[in-house]
Amino acid sequence: MSNIVIENLSKDYVLKSGFIKQLRGQADVVSAVSNVSIVINSGEILGLVGESGCGKTTLGKMLVKIEDTSSGTIKVGDRDIVNIKGKELLNFRKDIQMIFQDPYDSLNPKMTIHDIVAEPLRNLKLPKNNEEITQKIIEMLKLVELSPPEQYLNRYPHRLSGGQRQRVAIARALIVEPKFVVADEPVSMLDVSIRAGILNLLQKLNREKGISILLITHDLATARFLCNRIAVMYLGKIVELIPSEKLMENSMHPYTRLLLSSAPDLFADTSNRIEVKGEATSAIAPPKGCRFSPRCNFISSACSKEEPALIEIEEGHFVACNKILDLNS
Ligand SMILES: Nc1ncnc2c1ncn2[C@@H]1O[C@H](COP(=O)(O)OP(=O)(O)O)[C@@H](O)[C@H]1O
Ligand SMILES: [Mg+2]
Repeated sequence: MSNIVIENLSKDYVLKSGFIKQLRGQADVVSAVSNVSIVINSGEILGLVGESGCGKTTLGKMLVKIEDTSSGTIKVGDRDIVNIKGKELLNFRKDIQMIFQDPYDSLNPKMTIHDIVAEPLRNLKLPKNNEEITQKIIEMLKLVELSPPEQYLNRYPHRLSGGQRQRVAIARALIVEPKFVVADEPVSMLDVSIRAGILNLLQKLNREKGISILLITHDLATARFLCNRIAVMYLGKIVELIPSEKLMENSMHPYTRLLLSSAPDLFADTSNRIEVKGEATSAIAPPKGCRFSPRCNFISSACSKEEPALIEIEEGHFVACNKILDLNS
């Protein structure tokens, strides 16, 4: 599969609650994803990191086309997939799948593991007879290291642990042989002791099957462990994009440094810690200029007026910060 080229992608949610406001044409709008441009390279694991509510899931859902976009383009090769329908959409769904955060919620409790894993094949009308389908399911359960696979086929999700459920969810995503997978916080609901197993599995799928992965996480340590590059998101915007091996030394955006400083196991050297005040601002009516400016200690007069562009400051390293761009120019 070609690279995925995202340009100026935005998603606004109009909140239904403000009914009176809506009548007046003043409905509250959540700017969940705002003008995001990024390329996801074929074969890579790209990390998408940021606090809860910054728009990670919304971005992931737009990529797999289970959420509409408000504006912007998503190109795979020279095809914009934003408005594809019908057969073209079915074909696209074979190439790109999503693994959800909560394996307790994402598996239908009334279906057996066999039927859960088989469902995408049926939904996408992939021609296979029952025997072939069962063989394929067994192959997938082996791949996600549920063994012996035959023992899982007739079980229901409630008989499985969280980790086993997440493996089933991964098998379900992989059965259509996607080339690209969005993994939305795949271990955050799981016991710490079994997280590494699932992350190692994702790494194996990337290395051995060449599946590109967008790994959504709020945890920089996880991202650094698994990803080739890391995109840091704040209130709907990508504020920094950096190769993982440069994260500790070279990351520059004050928000990235904040995230690093709150992950003490990764950030033993406290000498260049940056104090950042406050909590994430609401995505309803986000601040003017730089969205991070109300929390930033480096703010200059430009920051509350001008929205910083994401600029390449060294090869493969992009930052959206007025102050840092000043220092580098
Ligand atoms: N269906 C929806 N309707 C209204 N607002 C939504 C909806 N889904 C998400 N949001 C809002 O969009 C923003 C981004 O949410 P989300 O993408 O879930 O963030 P994350 O995955 O980073 O936690 C949040 O402010 C959230 O409240
Ligand atoms: Mg989310």
